[in-house]
Amino acid sequence: MPDYDEIYQEGATPWEIGGPQPALAEVMTRGASVLDLGCGTGELAISLARRGHQVTAVDISSVAIERARTKAFAAAVTVDFRVCDVIELAMDPFDIVFDSGLLHSLHRWGGVEGYLALLPTLLVPGGSLFVLAIGVEADQGWGVTEDYLRSVFTAPDWTNTKVMPAEVAAFWNGDHIRLPGYLTSTTRT
Ligand SMILES: C[S@@+](CC[C@H](N)C(=O)[O-])C[C@H]1O[C@@H](n2cnc3c(N)ncnc32)[C@H](O)[C@@H]1O
Repeated sequence: MPDYDEIYQEGATPWEIGGPQPALAEVMTRGASVLDLGCGTGELAISLARRGHQVTAVDISSVAIERARTKAFAAAVTVDFRVCDVIELAMDPFDIVFDSGLLHSLHRWGGVEGYLALLPTLLVPGGSLFVLAIGVEADQGWGVTEDYLRSVFTAPDWTNTKVMPAEVAAFWNGDHIRLPGYLTSTTRT
């Protein structure tokens, strides 16, 4: 796994686009308890808190979480930001879980199997999971496939799984770009 503190300190963070991923902004509902996994510097978590959600957000990078807390303070919203490795998460289940770019990172660097085993424990029955991931079509030498996503979110833990093509926004070499990816939505059985 890369050293994410170092990555944040160096600013090598193309996923920092100054807001939540547009594909996820479209599926934000109101009022439920929400967990943002691999929250980075908190753009999605803060947007969710602004919409009235009770938000917990975790990231392995203490640098990212420090920045997220500063942003939340400036935005005058409350988010329970925590530094932790998702693999060690043990929490009461949430109504909604968001993953904006974490699954594809774990798929790339290792640890995705443990993560997939943990995910069902983080949602109440009937709860919703949204995963935005870069696809192999982005031609980065890594990424997930539609078939892979369909194969991992299946019964008995998941139902009503939909995998839709979606753009993943990035800020790269001073340019805003869009990479092909997938938005998966699924329901905890
Ligand atoms: C591609 S970035 C996405 C950040 C944020 N969700 C966004 O959309 O801007 C992936 C994030 O996952 C975090 N991360 C990677 N491995 C992790 C792990 N095992 N536990 C918690 N966070 C992790 C990284 O520090 C990074 O902030």
